[in-house]
Amino acid sequence: MNAIEDLPEIDYNSTEYQAAPLATLARFAGRSKLGRSTRGVEIFDYELCREAIIDRRLGTGHPKLMKVLGLPEGQALDYKRNSISFHDRGETRRRLRKPLVHLMGPDQSERFRRDIRHVVERTIHAVPTDEPVDFIANICDPIPSGVYCYWINADMEDAKFVSRTSHIVQQVHTRDPERTRQIVDGFNALLDYVDKRIDEARRNPGNYLLSELIRVTDSGALSEDELRNWVVKLAEANTDNSSHQIGIAIAELASRPDVWARLGDDPALVPQAMREVMRFHPRSLSTSRETLEDIVLDGCNLPKGTAVFPNIGAAHWNPRYYPNPEVFDIERPDKPPHLNFGGGIFSCIGRFAVTIEIEEAIALMARRFPHLKVERAEFSHSPMFTSVEALEGVLDPA
Ligand code: HEM
Repeated sequence: MNAIEDLPEIDYNSTEYQAAPLATLARFAGRSKLGRSTRGVEIFDYELCREAIIDRRLGTGHPKLMKVLGLPEGQALDYKRNSISFHDRGETRRRLRKPLVHLMGPDQSERFRRDIRHVVERTIHAVPTDEPVDFIANICDPIPSGVYCYWINADMEDAKFVSRTSHIVQQVHTRDPERTRQIVDGFNALLDYVDKRIDEARRNPGNYLLSELIRVTDSGALSEDELRNWVVKLAEANTDNSSHQIGIAIAELASRPDVWARLGDDPALVPQAMREVMRFHPRSLSTSRETLEDIVLDGCNLPKGTAVFPNIGAAHWNPRYYPNPEVFDIERPDKPPHLNFGGGIFSCIGRFAVTIEIEEAIALMARRFPHLKVERAEFSHSPMFTSVEALEGVLDPA
């Protein structure tokens, strides 16, 4: 039986990881199914990751995260405590997720497609085509924040506020207490904003997502606070993750002219290309859990309260599951599925909607701008995320 101290240690600050994060993770996965880091235990093996993501003995890692950050008592921490993220498996988690799982399920999310396409078209139409532009500011941020505005029936002018605050509050995952003040301010601003939007939506009901959530609340399935927490949660989780994943998709696809040309000729290839982007260069490099009891994982003793990280990046670059993982291949079979959206009772609520969003953006850009040129693409890789730090180029250099 192993102890955590016996596991190989990965240093996320090492030059090796910073220079080639996924290849480094793959090397660790080749040596051991489990590892350790300063944040806790790392699961490198694909199958073990999948099992851990749905393992009943593992609960949410968010309460520990808030402790690491030292979030002070107040409105922001109250929101966090009562939002879905703090709830372990059980009746409350099931009840809270039920309306969202329904309203944002695979078929239901299709009802958003027409309006998502509209947001994508409007956004890209506003971008100058013949000069270098910042794709993050002009495309990656405005699309998901615009979709959120459409969900809550807000003026599209609010999209800038929505993306800015989403980027701020998602910094919880840096585990850096230096950012706590800014994060608290971000949550407070978002909570005030959402309260106003809910008041407005009650005055002007319609067929948008927020109106539907209000009807669910009025039927007694959610309380007023739970409604508010969900609308904040959708803002928190939406723009930041989606923006980075859109940026990764543009960078990975447009920098391969043969792939880009095929997508422009045949949009039916876009979904499989997106699956490969999310495997090859996922936004989520890990998700987080905590042991709810003493457990043994792959022969290693993990005491109750251990922070555990299913390492999605390592799983996606493991040749036992994805032959030649370093090769970008849009013809890969769709099994085993990528883990970019986690899974089970903790799985990403927005995964179907955001998939539509990215597919629509890529299909339109590949068709309309076959010569799109990425001139600068810079990424950073924390233990948790791939982030797009810079993405610049010309839509139509011809
Ligand atoms: C490409 C963009 C996105 C990525 C990569 C992503 C990824 C994830 C991951 C990895 C989790 C945790 C799953 C787990 O621990 O098993 C998660 C949770 C969540 N995501 Fe996303 N997400 C994205 C976009 C969105 C969007 C657009 C929304 C909402 C509109 C959303 C809403 C949520 C919510 C509410 C949760 C918490 C679910 C729970 O705790 O039950 N996400 N997401």
